[in-house]
Amino acid sequence: MNLNGKRVVVTGGGSGIGLAMALAFANEGAVVVITGRNQTKLAAAAAKRPNISSQVCDVADEAAVVALRDAMDADGGTDVLINNAGIMHSFDVTQGFPLEKQLQEIDIDVSGPVRLVHHFCRECSNASR
Ligand SMILES: NC(=O)c1ccc[n+]([C@@H]2O[C@H](COP(=O)([O-])OP(=O)(O)OC[C@H]3O[C@@H](n4cnc5c(N)ncnc54)[C@H](OP(=O)(O)O)[C@@H]3O)[C@@H](O)[C@H]2O)c1
Repeated sequence: MNLNGKRVVVTGGGSGIGLAMALAFANEGAVVVITGRNQTKLAAAAAKRPNISSQVCDVADEAAVVALRDAMDADGGTDVLINNAGIMHSFDVTQGFPLEKQLQEIDIDVSGPVRLVHHFCRECSNASR
């Protein structure tokens, strides 16, 4: 597939499946921006290809998501958005089941993609642009 010059955002692209997808897109010529919460991890991942760059963006932080969208718009827009960022806490239910950790998972894994799609979709977010 020729993705030459296509502009791709991969959330959680600093490791794991997200990084694998970022490298695959970069190998096909796309211009890839990876995001996550840890600048050091992102910089190390972005250094793997000249056409990968990074921006710190917590998908649970609406202002950070808008800033990412605006930075992409300023550079030519976004052709592909990969909502990959996520976490998974493991719990021993016999030892308690902290509500704040359950809600954090929902905010990142469920609300995160909704937040990203809302702000990156031009029709959804015209008012904030
Ligand atoms: N591997 C599996 O078997 C499996 C199974 C089912 C679903 N998944 C889902 O597939 C996705 C990738 O999994 P993976 O195994 O590659 O996990 P991973 O290696 O832990 O990668 C997840 C990435 O998401 C980033 N991230 C976490 N919270 C974030 C936030 N609030 N904002 C922005 N970035 C955030 C992490 O970076 P920072 O911590 O630096 O932010 C990390 O780079 C996840 O959504 C995971 O839940 C994986």
